Amino acid sequence: MRTVYVNGTFLPEDQAQISIFDRAVLFADAVYEVTAVVGGKLLDFDGHMARLRRSLKELDMVERFSDQELLKIHRSLIEKNTLQEGLVYLQVTRGVADRDFDFSRLDADPGLILFTQAKDLINNPLAERGQCITLVEDLRWARSDIKTVQLLYSSLVKSRASEAGADDVWLHRDGKVTEGSSNNAYIVTDNNEIITRELSRDILHGITRQAVLNVARLHQMKVVERAFTIEELRSAKEAFSTSASGFVNPVVRVDDQEIGTGQPGIVTKLLRANYIAASLRTAI
Ligand code: PDD
Repeated sequence: MRTVYVNGTFLPEDQAQISIFDRAVLFADAVYEVTAVVGGKLLDFDGHMARLRRSLKELDMVERFSDQELLKIHRSLIEKNTLQEGLVYLQVTRGVADRDFDFSRLDADPGLILFTQAKDLINNPLAERGQCITLVEDLRWARSDIKTVQLLYSSLVKSRASEAGADDVWLHRDGKVTEGSSNNAYIVTDNNEIITRELSRDILHGITRQAVLNVARLHQMKVVERAFTIEELRSAKEAFSTSASGFVNPVVRVDDQEIGTGQPGIVTKLLRANYIAASLRTAI
């Protein structure tokens, strides 16, 4: 059984409890981060903490925990669960209060929850096989740059896609791809240009995205940050997604159509290998 962390205490997962009045339960009033662990070490930790602070700030939530404290809790959880490879999930909630839309006079302590999930990240079968995705209109709220736990739309469309035999969903708005259900989206053109939507309120500012684009530029690859259309995706040479839980994963089919050769592409494989090598070098 896992050891989890809830509001200052490490305890067995079946004893962990939070209040039914926590605003995370009543209003999805909480933000989260997911950080990868390989060889017992955290990948891109500073980036995840920086984004956590940004999410808190955008939602007028107080910052009660220092990066150092959060790192200590992450490391204790990894140790207590002897986690070699997988994820650490962290959630900060606005806290416990009687149900009220107005939180302006709230004086509650923020909630803090962490748990681990063991997962094969390096030997992910999707990296070998490639993902089949479907396209769905992006009907999420207009602040997808904030990492809130309000994930129902993405969860709903991914589940429907899964029932229909697909691995994931990419979302689109006005004929252009925004991002994946829980990852950023890319295409590679015939000229080997890597195209991914520019940072805005339309997408989550992926920590893996930032690292992968750095790796691409370091290898003299051309990166263009702009939105791409569904037609561009369908005629792309390669497509792939990035996230802390998937690293770099090829997309080989969109709805009923193969992308490129229908096999994971060379640029995608290169980026995956180099991203993993670079992030392991800086893991803490
Ligand atoms: N999801 N876009 C969305 C909508 C996401 O939920 C995620 C991450 C990303 C990629 O961000 P990063 O590279 O920082 O992981 C993009 C996490 C993994 C999750 O919800 O499980």
